[in-house]
Parts: sequence; C-alpha cells; structure tokens
Amino acid sequence: MTIRLGQIAPDFNVDTTKGPMSFHEWAGDSWVFFFSHPADFTPVCTTEMGRTAQLAQEFAARNVKPLGLSTDSVEEHLKWIDDVNDTQSCDLQFPIVADEDHKIAELYEMIHPGESETAAVRSVFIIDPDKKVRLTMTYPMAVGRNFDEILRAIDALQTADANSCALPADWKKGGEVIIPPSISNEKAKDMFPQGWNELRPYLRLTRI
Ligand code: BEZ
Repeated sequence: MTIRLGQIAPDFNVDTTKGPMSFHEWAGDSWVFFFSHPADFTPVCTTEMGRTAQLAQEFAARNVKPLGLSTDSVEEHLKWIDDVNDTQSCDLQFPIVADEDHKIAELYEMIHPGESETAAVRSVFIIDPDKKVRLTMTYPMAVGRNFDEILRAIDALQTADANSCALPADWKKGGEVIIPPSISNEKAKDMFPQGWNELRPYLRLTRI
C-alpha cells in the first residue's frame, strides 16, 4: 500500500523495546517521527539511533515522539541499544519496533527490493497529532539521514499549521515566510497585520 501525504497513518499492534504497542494509542496527542533502519549492529544505523537519542530534548520540545523500526527482534534491539549508548554517548529511551515478520515494513513500504529483499531502507514518516502523514523521506541504506533537516521539516510543518503560511527554500525558524496565493490581499491584511514584501502578486514575504 502506497502511503500518501494527508492520509491517516496505518495503525498497528507490535512488540517494541518498551513492550507491546498499539501505535495510534501510543502516539496520543503527539507528533511522531517514525523511522526505519536496515539492521541492528550496523554502523550508519548506530549513528542515526545515537543522533535521535541525543536530540531527545529537541523532539520533546516540538511534541514529537521518535519511533524506530527494523526487522530485528526485541532481544537484538536491546543488546544493540547498549552499543549505541556506549559508542554515541547517549541514553536511548524511545521505543524501537521489532518487525520480525516484516508486516509493518510492508504496510509502510519500507522494503525496497532494489536495496534489500528483507531489510528496510531508511524511511521517515512525520505524522501529526490527527495521525495524518505529513511528510515522508526515503534514504538508501548507505546514506545516513540529516537530523538538522528532520527537525527543520518538523518546525516548518508546525509553523505552517500555526500561521497559515508556507515556507520558502532553505527556510529556518525565524526566517521570512510566504503568504500563500490562496489568501487574498484583503484577507492577508487581517491575518498578517505586520504587512508583507510583495515581490510579485504570487510572492509575498512576511515575518511572524
Ligand atoms: C549501516 O547501517 O551501516 C548499513 C546497514 C545496511 C546496509 C548498509 C549500511
């Protein structure tokens, strides 16, 4: 099943390093950073897990719960977490799904046979508190993800939601935002009383 932006993230029940999980119930009112990795005890994955653990406060500040997944067992995950903590100087506390039968990896199309028939690629699903899939990324096995970009993308989604705006290329928190063309100048005067810089009628920049 191809997962499209805007659809409800499929629910599932599964074992994790923090015990059995019912996904939607666990997500509750939080955003979720759901990400797969190919395998435990592999180098790139070890750095990614460590980075996620190191950024625990950044995720919490954005009301985001990280959730990892691979097709390894809970026992393997738990042994590997010791290595992750040791080598990456962190204290990994978020759950990691043990998807031994590949059910969830298949449900979320995390297995790309061109990369591997049995292991997940580096998929990312950013899911909002309404359980809608808001952003996806797919990285190959050999390339670790950029966690500054993951946090930036979450900031962008949350800023767009809170301010009915859009975000330009390379936007960072605090930078100029775009007033979407769907908002008339009349309406924009109410919504953005600070005014805007109109480069073109369709390109209006403002600060929030
Ligand atoms: C890694 O995490 O280093 C890795 C895992 C699977 C394939 C390639 C790299």
